[in-house]
Amino acid sequence: MDIQEFESRKRDHIKHALDPAHQAIGQSKLDQVHLIHEALPNLNLSDVSLASKCLGIKTKTPFYVAGMTAGHADAAELNRTLALACQARGWAMGVGSQRRDLENLNGGMLDRWSELREEVPQLVLFANIGITQLVKADPKKIANLVKSIRAQALIVHTNALQEAMQPEGTPHFKGGLSALKKICEKLSTPVVLKETGCGFSEHTLKKLAKIGLAGIDISGLGGTHWGRIEGARSAELSQFAQAALTFSNWGEPTVDSVIAAKRILKKTEIWASGGVRSGLDAAKLIALGAHRVGYAKPALEAALAGPDSLSRWMEIQEFELRVALFCTDSLNPAELRAKENAIRWKTNGN
Ligand code: FNR
Repeated sequence: MDIQEFESRKRDHIKHALDPAHQAIGQSKLDQVHLIHEALPNLNLSDVSLASKCLGIKTKTPFYVAGMTAGHADAAELNRTLALACQARGWAMGVGSQRRDLENLNGGMLDRWSELREEVPQLVLFANIGITQLVKADPKKIANLVKSIRAQALIVHTNALQEAMQPEGTPHFKGGLSALKKICEKLSTPVVLKETGCGFSEHTLKKLAKIGLAGIDISGLGGTHWGRIEGARSAELSQFAQAALTFSNWGEPTVDSVIAAKRILKKTEIWASGGVRSGLDAAKLIALGAHRVGYAKPALEAALAGPDSLSRWMEIQEFELRVALFCTDSLNPAELRAKENAIRWKTNGN
């Protein structure tokens, strides 16, 4: 892998992720979910707590910043901004792909995660590697990646559409399921499987039911869309750019995937990301069964505007979730998740 090409690709990804044209807006089905209002909540707003658990660890909120900005020289500062804010507000955080560290490119030093970890010892942090790397990697090396940042879990991301649509992609997924099973058995840290914007179908979820995953991050259709981003990175008349138009809404909506995961994966913690754009979206996903809710693009945008903007944005997400909990008579996210009749499906925009 050419290091300059690798860095420039990572920069391109950030630029294109911020373009509204590369968001699958309206596809998550979140706008079809209506949380039912309780006019007489039997609590005060100040009683509401966002306290949650993440794979058994207590956290102040059920939120997390999904893995993003890794692999290029500007990433360290951005990750620092995100990590400090997440630690301060009790959000969890995933690092972006640690492929570079795994393949020991430039000593893997650019992301400087091990250094940064010293500054955020309390942060609930997740390691990250792609399934295409997992298939060929020695489990011991993966364990070292996790150890190097004292991560509470390993996230394995799967991104078939992106790898297929990327001129330099590595669409090598053969053996992925057995590699996942193996890493779940070998690693002492919990393993979470995560999509990157295309979600999980019922069929895929059934294959995952017995391999020992501690968690699944749905990351469904409805937000950042890697088919669109990779298409925009390619020459206009290339097969990639053409296919990006055809596949612009490819994937399983976040809402459908969360519902299916709740039904199929009884022993797996469900995290929801992909098109989450408000605290109310988060509340809807919690009502559908999510234990943790993740934001990628909105957190990136806020962090790029600086620590104050990021903190303000996080505060708004928390406030909106708090209001939704209050107005559904839920003391905390677990109470909302446990409610039998928290939602109604909207039809014809009502
Ligand atoms: C990502 N995403 C991602 N996911 C992952 O597991 N490892 C990674 O390295 C990256 N890299 C990455 C870079 C950038 C710039 C973005 C915006 C996203 C995917 C991300 O975690 C998430 O799954 C999707 O972006 C969907 O969430 P949003 O953006 O709709 O909130």
